[in-house]
Amino acid sequence: MNYKNHIAKKLNIDSVDTPTLESYIEIPPNLEMGDYALPCFKLSKILRSSPIKIAEDLKAGFVLDEYISECSAVNGYLNFKVNRISLANEVLSKVLNEKENYGSSTIGKGKTICIDYSSINIAKPFHIGHLSTTVIGSALCKIFKFLGYEVVGINHLGDYGTQFGKLIVAFKKWSSFEAVKEGRLKELTRIYVKFHDEAKLNPSLDDEARRYFKLIEDGDEESNKLFNLFKEITLEEVDKIYKLLNVSFDSYAGESFYNDKMAPVVEELKEKGLIKISDGASIVDLEEYGMPPCLILKSDGSTLYATRDIAAAMYRKKTYDFDKCLYVVAYQQNLHFKQFFKVVELMGREWAKDLVHVAYGMVSLESGSMSTRSGNVVLLEDVINKTIEKAYKVIEEKNPNIKDKDHTAKAVGTGAVIFGALCNNKIKDIVFSYDRVLSFEGETCPYVQYTVARCNSVLNKVGEPSQYTISELAEEEYDVVSTLSKFGEIVQSASKNYEPSLITRYALELSGVFNKFYMNCKIACDDDNAKNLRLALTKSVKITLTNALNLLGIETVEEM
Ligand code: ARG
Repeated sequence: MNYKNHIAKKLNIDSVDTPTLESYIEIPPNLEMGDYALPCFKLSKILRSSPIKIAEDLKAGFVLDEYISECSAVNGYLNFKVNRISLANEVLSKVLNEKENYGSSTIGKGKTICIDYSSINIAKPFHIGHLSTTVIGSALCKIFKFLGYEVVGINHLGDYGTQFGKLIVAFKKWSSFEAVKEGRLKELTRIYVKFHDEAKLNPSLDDEARRYFKLIEDGDEESNKLFNLFKEITLEEVDKIYKLLNVSFDSYAGESFYNDKMAPVVEELKEKGLIKISDGASIVDLEEYGMPPCLILKSDGSTLYATRDIAAAMYRKKTYDFDKCLYVVAYQQNLHFKQFFKVVELMGREWAKDLVHVAYGMVSLESGSMSTRSGNVVLLEDVINKTIEKAYKVIEEKNPNIKDKDHTAKAVGTGAVIFGALCNNKIKDIVFSYDRVLSFEGETCPYVQYTVARCNSVLNKVGEPSQYTISELAEEEYDVVSTLSKFGEIVQSASKNYEPSLITRYALELSGVFNKFYMNCKIACDDDNAKNLRLALTKSVKITLTNALNLLGIETVEEM
């Protein structure tokens, strides 16, 4: 039941269409005032009357029905109370019928969304700086799918650039196949860091690196063999982490995939007169738009990050015909995206408006910002493993008889890491702290998972809900119903704002109202009718929390 729509239709004001009227209806901050309210000052201009008069007139003409049980005019607001019993009947039967689909929708049917996320750099450690893009992007994929969209998850691998030349030099000088097979990504990081240390003393190493990079580009067999080995090792390593985080991709087309797709772009830019030569480099001048120029070709003719992104956007449009293409990338790259989106627009692609940079805040360490070169990084794998270990310890302390401790610890540990990264508005900067991720107190994932386990244990002990009729609802019961009823809207709003944290906050809120209900209303009571209603509430909370966590990539556990 869409109450806003229902009310707007019933009000039926000639000069205001229903969608507009619907958009004016609010949920008042204080439920005492009502469940919905129409601030009538929004209609003053059109209706040429005072808000107070409008509210009174509208109230006089409003007929209550099975959904709306009260309508009052107060200080220029028209307040509505919903019929709580019909809301409860409707919401509970919807959740219990739709189960794992509760909250889903078909609004995205026939639409395609490309989501570029995680987009790691080959041969670099997967550190906590990559956590946000990975979990925000993955959650957005799941959210859009839940809403009926066709989703293409893309890992735009950073697999192009002189750093690969550096690695080849470093490999030849200080490593071996055996050492790389043994030490994997750690070995690659070690020699990469060493290269930078050595190159400070001996700059000719940089020239050598450039030469090897050129060899990769020119298709030299030995160099490409090494490059592919580095790529393979990186992907195998990160794949372990992706599995833990329930993350997957439909495409791994990275930067080097566009090597042969940039020439036509550069050609078109030239034809359209968009290229200027500046100090030998080819640029698109964006001064008119208040931005520095977008670099397309260096003076030696080599392409740049932006060149590859423009080619990638063209390729994605042609291949997937997306309605939107999202880039989940830290806000540090704001300018890059603004620039290349503008270039695509100047090339005459009207769909440039469908390219969206979903920016998020930075992660830094208490000891400063992270840098692979200096070795100041916290590896994601270490964080996840430590959290799982801690979860294991906590479980052993609190509930030593639990059946599948390993599985539970894994779900709780990884859940804590994902939830922690999705808890706040995505644009906020975070200073990473082990203590915080490892804390199971307060507004955390273990709290939500624990609530699901509690629902589960109630259903196991007291039984599955059967027939009930609702004649009254305690305040705590109604709070659960009302929170349950909002889930669908929350999911849609998370998709519109590209903000998975709305679902995280919602899961905490629903857990909160459920736990209050659990404390204050005895579920295993003598009154069969009340018992079954409470079991239906419990089961609905379990379903909805599970759906919410799954959208974030978090598993629930049976017991905890
Ligand atoms: N690999 C890049 C980095 O780590 C992010 C790539 C984002 N995606 C893109 N299409 N530019 O900074």
